[in-house]
Amino acid sequence: MADHDAHSTVGAEPPTLPSLRWEEPPEGPVLVLLDQTRLPVEEVELVCTDVPALVGAIQRLAVRGAPLLGIAGAYGVALAARRGFDVEEAAGQLAGARPTAVNLGYGVRQAAGAYAAAREKGLGEEGAAQAALDAARALHRADALASAAMARHGLALLDELLPGGSHRVLTHCNTGALVSGGEGTAFAVALAAHRQGRLRRLWVDETRPLLQGARLTAYEAARHSMAYTLLTDNAAGSLFAAGEVDAVLIGADRIAADGSVANKVGSYPLAVLAKYHHVPFVVVAPLTTVDPATPDGAAIEVEMRSGLEVTEFTGGLPAAGAEGGGGHAVAPLGTQAYNPAFDVTPPELVTALVTEEGVVSPVTGTALAELCARSPRT
Ligand code: MRU
Repeated sequence: MADHDAHSTVGAEPPTLPSLRWEEPPEGPVLVLLDQTRLPVEEVELVCTDVPALVGAIQRLAVRGAPLLGIAGAYGVALAARRGFDVEEAAGQLAGARPTAVNLGYGVRQAAGAYAAAREKGLGEEGAAQAALDAARALHRADALASAAMARHGLALLDELLPGGSHRVLTHCNTGALVSGGEGTAFAVALAAHRQGRLRRLWVDETRPLLQGARLTAYEAARHSMAYTLLTDNAAGSLFAAGEVDAVLIGADRIAADGSVANKVGSYPLAVLAKYHHVPFVVVAPLTTVDPATPDGAAIEVEMRSGLEVTEFTGGLPAAGAEGGGGHAVAPLGTQAYNPAFDVTPPELVTALVTEEGVVSPVTGTALAELCARSPRT
C-alpha cells in the first residue's frame, strides 16, 4: 500500500477525490482509496494492491461507512481474483474485517458469488475475475442510484413531517459521499434540502471518539457551502431543549428484521432525546443495510474498539499499539475504557426509515419484509 501525493484541503473547494476507485496501471490492478483518517487536513490516496492492505485500511477506518464498506469488499474480491490470490480465503478475510456493517459481507458475497458462478459455468480464472469486477462495479453504480432515490424520498418525507418549513436537521457520524457510490444516505437528504433552499441549519455532532462528524461531515458540508454548526455530542440535549432541532437524520450499519437500527455510537441517545422532545427521528439507509438474517437488535454484533481511542486524543485517528497509541493522553496510563463503535436503537424510537424503495413508517418487521420483497437487492 502506498501513499499518493497529499493535497492540502484546508479552505479548498470541490472537486474532492472520489472515496474509492478501481485502476489498472501496467503493474496490475489496484484499488485506490481516499484515506479518510487524513481528512480534513489533507487528501491522501492509498493504493491497495492486495487484500491484507485493504483489510488493514478497513480496520483503521481509512475506508468506512456501511455502503462504502460493501463496495470496497466487492472490489477487494475482484482484486484478489485478478491478482491470482485465493478468492475464497480473501472473501473470508474481507467479510470478517469489521463485524457490524452488514453491507461489507453483502458486497463480498456479491463479487465472490459472481466469481464462483462464472467458474461453475466453465470460465477460466480471467473470465471469473472479470465477473467479480463486473459485480463490484454493478454494486458501486447501484449504490449511487440508491443514494439519489433516498435523497428524493427523504426530502419528500421531511416536507411532509415539517410542512412549509426550512429545516434544522441534526446528524451524527458521517453519511455523505465519503460512505457511498453517490452522495450518501442521511447526508444526501440534507444536501437535497440545501439545494432546494430548505435547509436552515445542519447540526453536526462531532461523534466521539473518532470524530467522523467533525472531520468528515463538516468537511463535506463546508464543500457544499451548507449552513452547518458543529457541536460536541454532549451538547445535543440542550440543543433539543432549546427547540433548535426539527428533525434527526442518521444512517445505519445494520437494520435487523424487527427494525432495530445499529448505527454509530451515540445514535440511540439521540433517538431517546428526539422522542422526549417530539422531534422526528429518521433513519436513511439502502436496502443492502437491512439484514433479514438478524432477528432483532440483541442479535446485532456491535464492534468493540480499542480503549486507546478514548483514553488518548488522536485527532480522530484510530490509536495504534497496546501500551499507548502515540496520541495525547487524556486519562491516566492504563485506564480501561468502554468503546463500542455502535449502539442499537429499537424500532419504536424510529419515526421512519427511508430507503431507495420508499419510506417505512412505522418501522415494523412486517413493513420491512414487504419492502425487501419488492427489491431484488436483498
Ligand atoms: O465506524 P464507521 O465510521 O464505519 O461508522 C459509520 C457509521 O456509523 C455511519 O453512520 C453508517 O455507516 C451509516 S453511513 C450510510
